[in-house]
Amino acid sequence: LFLGHVDFLKGVVAMDGLPPADRVEFCLAGRSNVGKSSLINALTGRKALARTSNTPGRTQEVNFFTLGESHYMVDLPGYGFAEAPVKVVAKWQALLKDYLAGRANLRRVFLLIDGRHGAKEVDEEIMSVLDRAAVPFQTVLTKIDKPKKGELDKALERTRAVLARHPTAYPEIVLTSSEKGEGIETLRAIIAGLE
Ligand code: GTP
Ligand code: MG
Repeated sequence: LFLGHVDFLKGVVAMDGLPPADRVEFCLAGRSNVGKSSLINALTGRKALARTSNTPGRTQEVNFFTLGESHYMVDLPGYGFAEAPVKVVAKWQALLKDYLAGRANLRRVFLLIDGRHGAKEVDEEIMSVLDRAAVPFQTVLTKIDKPKKGELDKALERTRAVLARHPTAYPEIVLTSSEKGEGIETLRAIIAGLE
């Protein structure tokens, strides 16, 4: 599987640093600490390919990985609360929005949402950015090893209600745990189908 042929390419801090838009591209977006970098490691089976941390605001650049010869996988800084200076955070947030709305080869955004809470207002703001730019996105609930069944069901319900307002959302929500491996094969299959 091409997810096994992965290499870190570069970390980008401004739009003019983006690599040429000549490959199929997908990214992982979501609130700080939601588990984007951990999911990249789970998907690729590489424990420390992307840097993870308990501290929200770990990933501060738009990190490009090459998959085989054909795809780019992109790990993004989070949005929402982060433990970093306000000015620094404002800079990533601007880059994040410019990237999400302005990347010609971006085929799908995987929008990660914490399985304990479901979609929040900041998630919906990002969904609106994607709607306006007509970038298709698919919701992935993360850390589903943490919530109790009832909590997870509520988070799902809340998330579905929010998605119903967003026409560019894929209806299928993928449930994942990077820790336990749940949903990882499903997500790999979705990624393998991107073209
Ligand atoms: P930023 O780069 O700061 O935006 O965070 P991120 O979204 O990349 O999150 P990251 O992957 O660094 O994970 C944040 C924390 O959540 C880490 O302590 C991870 O170990 C933990 N975590 C990630 N995925 C899971 C999961 O599936 N289950 C559990 N229990 N913890 C997880
Ligand atoms: Mg990260």
